[in-house]
Amino acid sequence: MDPTKIHLDEKEMPTSWYNVQPDLPTPLAPPLHPGTGQPLGPDDLAPLFPMEMIMQEVSQERYIDIPEEVQSIYHLWRPTPLIRAHRLEKALDTPAKIYYKYEGVSPAGSHKLNTAVAQAYYNKQEGVRRIATETGAGQWGSALALGCQYFGIELKVYMVRVSYGQKPYRRILMETWGANVVASPSEDTNAGRTVLAQEPGHPGSLGMAISEAVEDAATHDDTKYSLGSVLNHVLLHQTVVGQEAKKQLEKVDAYPDIIVGCIGGGSNFAGTFLPFIPDKLKGNKVRIICAEPEACPSLTKGLYAYDFGDAVGMAPLLKMFTLGHTFVPPLIHAGGLRYHGMAPIICHLYDQKLVEAAAVHQTATFESAVLFARTEGIVPAPEPSHAIRVAINEANKCKQSGEAKTILLALSGHGHFDMAAYDEYLSGRLTDHAYSKEKVDEALAQLPKVGS
Ligand SMILES: Cc1ncc(COP(=O)(O)O)c(C=O)c1O
Repeated sequence: MDPTKIHLDEKEMPTSWYNVQPDLPTPLAPPLHPGTGQPLGPDDLAPLFPMEMIMQEVSQERYIDIPEEVQSIYHLWRPTPLIRAHRLEKALDTPAKIYYKYEGVSPAGSHKLNTAVAQAYYNKQEGVRRIATETGAGQWGSALALGCQYFGIELKVYMVRVSYGQKPYRRILMETWGANVVASPSEDTNAGRTVLAQEPGHPGSLGMAISEAVEDAATHDDTKYSLGSVLNHVLLHQTVVGQEAKKQLEKVDAYPDIIVGCIGGGSNFAGTFLPFIPDKLKGNKVRIICAEPEACPSLTKGLYAYDFGDAVGMAPLLKMFTLGHTFVPPLIHAGGLRYHGMAPIICHLYDQKLVEAAAVHQTATFESAVLFARTEGIVPAPEPSHAIRVAINEANKCKQSGEAKTILLALSGHGHFDMAAYDEYLSGRLTDHAYSKEKVDEALAQLPKVGS
């Protein structure tokens, strides 16, 4: 039998991140200032981010060194394993070979720690004392709480209210790592107070929580803002995942025919597939499929336009597939996928037809997650369960066609803090949330009239 776990040794961990920007056939559209609509310069972003990260955002260097201090922290859990899903393949009776790259072995339980450590490091280098951030499902907030803890930085987390209620243990984990957590919308910012005055029980959204964290950073001299996805430098930090996966597949003489991952803001999946893009640009036929929720389908149903990165229009305007910054996505359990927009790099590649997208419903993702848990053992987070569903669909197509395709699945995190969602599914209470064209049209009507 082919090996099940494919490990790399610490010395084989990549020592640089891969930057796709110099390899893109056409350059990315620049981010615009939310007030003036003009292209942003480094100085505009300086109140929010350390300069090193601003430079990474626009860098044209193909490889960027991972600082040694960051590498030594990565060694606590990296390289992560690549695992052949023999038992899932058997259950599906498919000739497909499914490999999953498992990021749930990080202490925070997901890929998010890859960028959290890097971001905390650069902030520390530039003397930042405090960081403000948002979190949806709590994965990003807990990763940054640990990242900040490693470097002695104070952290304030605005946690989307619905997740704050659904996932108390994620909050406690953040607090264990020293963070201060509030439910968003909160009374701590103007953005939060305004929304609460209009709708006291507002469930919150990632866009809303971003507004609060950006305002916090913009109004405190000692504080910077940190984002766990979407931006180029975040995707860059995640490329350690795909570079490892590529090396691991080489060890078993394999190359993917299909790469599948879930997309919320796009970071785990871009980190997995970007290192394969140079091959694809040279003519390799690998298919790259982004899995998103039917209830929040930015790529499959969104508009490619400039929109605010947050809900109230304080964050920069990004050219992206968007459902409209005022759209409040339905309360699916995959809180990390409840975002109106998408990483500009992924949108650019989608627009150029270099990547595809597929949308899946919540109950179908849990059905696949439970099958995965019962065969492979790992209980996946609701977010990557979307990717598992799409990978299973592709493996089933292989069964029909008799093709032994190689599928690389990005398994971005475990679901140990999502057991209430599993409970709902197992007891038959979990429902699907329909995509609301009416609500999306309403939100799209409020797109800013700039840069189009
Ligand atoms: C485990 C996990 N996977 C995926 C995501 C989606 O984010 P991204 O698209 O940036 O990877 C999240 C976001 O919270 C997450 O927690």
